[in-house]
Amino acid sequence: MRKLSTKSLVLLLLLVIACCNSIDLCEGRRGRHWRPKKGPASSLTKKKGKGKPGSQHNGQGSPKPSLAPKPAVKPNPNPKPKPSPAQNPKPSPNPGSGPSPAQGKAKPASPTPIIYNVVDFGAQGDGVCDDTKAFEDAWAEACKEEASTVMVPADYQFLVGPISFSGPYCKPNIVFQLEGTIIAPTNAKAWGEGLLQWLEFTKLRGITIRGKGVIEGRGSIWWTGTDDDIDPVHTSMTSLTLLFALRFYGSYNVTVTGITIQNSPQCHLKFDNCESVAVYNISISSPGDSINTDGIHLQNSKDVNIHHNNLSCGDDCVSIQTGCSNINVHSLDCGPGHGISIGGLGRDNSKACVANVTVRDINMHNTMTAVRIKTWQGGSGLVENVRFSNIRVSEVQTPIIIDQFYCDHTSCRNQTQAVSISGVHYENIRGTFTVKPVHFACSDNAPCSDISLTNVQLQPQKEQFHMYDPFCWQAYGELYTPTVPPVLCLQNGKPASNRVLSDHDTC
Ligand SMILES: *[C@@H]1O[C@H](CO)[C@@H](O)[C@H](O)[C@H]1NC(C)=O
Ligand SMILES: *[C@@H]1O[C@H](CO)[C@@H](O)[C@H](O)[C@H]1NC(C)=O
Ligand SMILES: *[C@@H]1O[C@H](CO)[C@@H](O)[C@H](O)[C@H]1NC(C)=O
Ligand SMILES: *[C@@H]1O[C@H](CO)[C@@H](O)[C@H](O)[C@H]1NC(C)=O
Ligand SMILES: *[C@@H]1O[C@H](CO)[C@@H](O)[C@H](O)[C@H]1NC(C)=O
Repeated sequence: MRKLSTKSLVLLLLLVIACCNSIDLCEGRRGRHWRPKKGPASSLTKKKGKGKPGSQHNGQGSPKPSLAPKPAVKPNPNPKPKPSPAQNPKPSPNPGSGPSPAQGKAKPASPTPIIYNVVDFGAQGDGVCDDTKAFEDAWAEACKEEASTVMVPADYQFLVGPISFSGPYCKPNIVFQLEGTIIAPTNAKAWGEGLLQWLEFTKLRGITIRGKGVIEGRGSIWWTGTDDDIDPVHTSMTSLTLLFALRFYGSYNVTVTGITIQNSPQCHLKFDNCESVAVYNISISSPGDSINTDGIHLQNSKDVNIHHNNLSCGDDCVSIQTGCSNINVHSLDCGPGHGISIGGLGRDNSKACVANVTVRDINMHNTMTAVRIKTWQGGSGLVENVRFSNIRVSEVQTPIIIDQFYCDHTSCRNQTQAVSISGVHYENIRGTFTVKPVHFACSDNAPCSDISLTNVQLQPQKEQFHMYDPFCWQAYGELYTPTVPPVLCLQNGKPASNRVLSDHDTC
């Protein structure tokens, strides 16, 4: 008697689950299969779980036994039964279809990478359910396998909250294959306080994000002015410091390619303390009037190659901060935005060092500046060996800027100390400006030295009301060719004081 009633109870329960599937889908699926956290085993349990709803009409297959005994079969179930039917990943209950010949071999000695599909870890991809946990679980498995792949499949929209894909104990060379779309939460609760980033990859050796997918920050609520009706989301969000949609920290051999990152709440892509970075063939896009939406931010990173990307945003297309060296940026399309910047450096009397930056073959349109170096008063350190070449500008307000009086509010106290700037070369900078062609504002105590201009030809965009002449203050260097317009204010030779490169500035 007792057994029977238990059985019917189970059946009833299954029925209820089947009926209410649509309601508790988000939690339900996860709850169901994520108990056993083994990689391959979990996919097995998943399949069984999936069979459940269907099993009601063939009247058999209590899920319990199939769930349990399988560790023995470990090699043949595999973590990648790609549920190709886009919406409802409902692999038919026939167990045979799963391990298809192509995927049949799991880890052992296989040269083909092991693929962990987030859908197999319970991600819904409906743009509504929170898929964060599924991404974490997929990562946890991928982390254990060298050169494995986390697959974010196409035709899904995954809602993912702040998440960290972190080493340092992960195996090297993991690939994050982004084909679908990842969207950010828009409610303040999901973001929490003092958050630095949305999607973070830390302390990894060899990490690649690639694919045709999209990272959609849904940032518009962050950009709106405070004059909106009191929106709790907005007020909470804007109290935070700069937030990065995608951030890499402390990693080697980082590649980001193919993807699109758009509408970040603030900066789109950040590299901190990274070495050997390649970013190519990606697209970054947010409206020109969105606030603080830098494209790519580099800090304390070296050996970085950024090329063949399209960047349009509301702030710097590329921003190179302190601690960067051997930075190579080329073949970009930038605009709208604020151009490519080194700095602001030396804020709050800090020391800043940037060396060996090359920026070439850039198409810059409708931006505030094209190539800019900006430092705060009171800092120390040195920017050296910078080359800007083949920059085509179109309707750029002030294409060439060095500003050692950078200040992002109305006034900053004048201070004597400054981050020194030495060895900045401009070659083939051509096109149209709308305010001023060249602006070199250097510090009295640390004049800019060794600035050179070669083939600089900047025409005013026709019939503007206000056009300024080139401006220089304490800027020393050489014109290798005549410029258009003439930059006669550049002082020849070296600054008289030997203040440049004092001990204080050595980096
Ligand atoms: C980075 O990649 C290079 C070339 O693939 C390799 O030689 C090097 O060991 C890698 N660095 C690290 C820290 O994994
Ligand atoms: C660039 O990315 C797009 C979109 O992901 C892809 O279709 C194309 O093949 C990529 N091109 C190269 C040269 O990698
Ligand atoms: C950048 O834009 C150009 C012109 O629209 C296009 O041909 C190219 O594929 C784009 N590249 C990327 C990475 O989106
Ligand atoms: C900059 O490049 C020079 C010449 O290649 C090199 O000697 C120097 O070490 C580099 N500086 C930094 C900080 O990497
Ligand atoms: C700071 O110094 C600059 C350059 O010498 C000068 O033009 C400016 O008026 C000074 N500002 C203040 C607030 O003293």
